[in-house]
Amino acid sequence: MKRLPQINTSLPGPEAVRLMQLDQAYVSPSYTRGYPLVAKRGRGLWVQDVDGNQFLDFTAGIAVCATGHCHPRVVQAIRDQAGELLHMSGTDFYYEPQIMLAHKLASLAPGGGAHKVFFGNSGAEAVEAAFKLARWHTRRELNIAFFGAFHGRTMGALSLTASKAIQKRHYHPVVPGITHIPYAYCYRCPHGMVYPNCCQECVSWLEDTLFRTTIPPEEVAAIFVEPIQGEGGYVVPPPEFLRELARVAHKYGILLVADEVQSGMGRTGRMFAVEHFGVEPDIMALAKGLASGMPLGAMLARAKIMSWEAGSHASTFGGNPVSCQAALATIELLEEGLMANAQAMGQRLMEGLRLLQREHECLGDVRGLGLMVGAEIVKDRQTKERAHDWRHRIVHDAFHRGLLLLGCGENTVRFCPGLTVSAEEIDTCLEIFAEVVAKVTT
Ligand SMILES: Cc1ncc(COP(=O)(O)O)c(C=O)c1O
Repeated sequence: MKRLPQINTSLPGPEAVRLMQLDQAYVSPSYTRGYPLVAKRGRGLWVQDVDGNQFLDFTAGIAVCATGHCHPRVVQAIRDQAGELLHMSGTDFYYEPQIMLAHKLASLAPGGGAHKVFFGNSGAEAVEAAFKLARWHTRRELNIAFFGAFHGRTMGALSLTASKAIQKRHYHPVVPGITHIPYAYCYRCPHGMVYPNCCQECVSWLEDTLFRTTIPPEEVAAIFVEPIQGEGGYVVPPPEFLRELARVAHKYGILLVADEVQSGMGRTGRMFAVEHFGVEPDIMALAKGLASGMPLGAMLARAKIMSWEAGSHASTFGGNPVSCQAALATIELLEEGLMANAQAMGQRLMEGLRLLQREHECLGDVRGLGLMVGAEIVKDRQTKERAHDWRHRIVHDAFHRGLLLLGCGENTVRFCPGLTVSAEEIDTCLEIFAEVVAKVTT
C-alpha cells in the first residue's frame, strides 16, 4: 500500500513544543528554521518527529542525506569504524580510511590526471581550503565569485558568498580582493538578454569589461563558481556558461574552482555537476552528500596545484575515519545505482512540475538537473514579480500536510530528496505540492 505522511497532532506537537522552548533558551538564535520540525528518526525518505508524526522528506537535511536517512550500509560502515578507531587526526598521523577515500575521490576527478585531496569537516572548510590553496599556488591576491553565490559562512568563504545581505551584515570588512559578477541566471538575465541570443554576455562581460577596466587578469588567483547555484535559487546556467568561463580562466592562468558542495556527489545524476557541462575544474569543493550526513568536507585539486608545503594548512578533525568510511560506503552506493536513480527520478519530478506549471500561473520557472530541482514562485508570469509570501506559505503548508520542503533564493522552492527516492514518493510529493500551490494562490 502507498505510504503517505501521517500527522496525528497539531504542529508542533506537545513534545516538539517542549523541546523548542528549551532550544529557544539555550541554542543560538542565528539559525533559520522555517517551520517547527523537531526530528527524531529518519529512514530513507521518511522522517518521524518527536510526537510520532511521519513526514516525507524532500530536503535530505539540506541536500546532505544522499543515500536517504540512515542507509543500512552507511550505518554499518559507521558502526564498524566506530568500534575500530574514532579519531587519530590525519594532520599528524596516517590511517587507512582517509588514504582510501582520497584515492577514491582522486580517481573520480573529472578529466582524470593526478589529483590530491585535503579534508575538512564542512562545505565552508572545503571552500576555505580552496581559497587558501588558490592564493598559495598562484601567489595572486584577487578572486572572482558570483552574485547569488553561497560558499559558506567562515570569514573566507563568507567573503566569496553574495547570496543574502543578512549573511554579511555587521561582519564587514570581509577578506578583500574579491569581485562579484552576475551569474548566468537566464530566467532573469542580468544583462537583459534572452538565451540563446546573448552570446554568453555573462562571460564576455568579464573579459571585455571587468578585465579591461578594473581587475588585471594576471592578478586573479581563481574564479569560484557553483555549477548550479544552490542557496541562490537552484539556478541552472546554460550549457556554454561553464565552458566559456573555463576557457577565459585558462587563457589568463586563473584557477577554476567549482563549488560542488551542494551539486556534487551524484545529486544531478552525474557524480559532479560539472560533468554535465564537460568542464574539468582545477579545484573542487565537496561536502554535504559526501558522507551521507557525517561531517566531512573535501577539497580536491590537481596534484601539481596542491603544491603547498607541510604546515600551510591542516585540520584536527578533518577526514575523521568514521566520516571517511561513511563516504566510501556512500560513493559505492552512488556508483551501484543511486546516481542513475537521481537522473530517472529527477526527470519524473521535473515532468510532474512542468505539468503543474501549465495549470498554475505562479510556477514561473521550473528548472533543475537530476534531483536538484527548483520551482520559482511568481505573482505574474509576465512581470515575473517575486512571490516571497506565496513561497513561504507553500513551504509552510506543505509541512502541515506532511511534506518537508525548503526554500532557496528569494522565491524558489527547492526539491532535493535523498537519491534513494522512489517513483511513488515523487508522485506523493507532487500531489501534496499541487494541493498546497492551489490553496495558496486562490
Ligand atoms: C555551494 C555551497 N558551498 C558551501 C556551503 C557551505 O557548507 P557548510 O554549511 O557545510 O559549511 C554550502 C551550504 O549550503 C553550499 O551550498
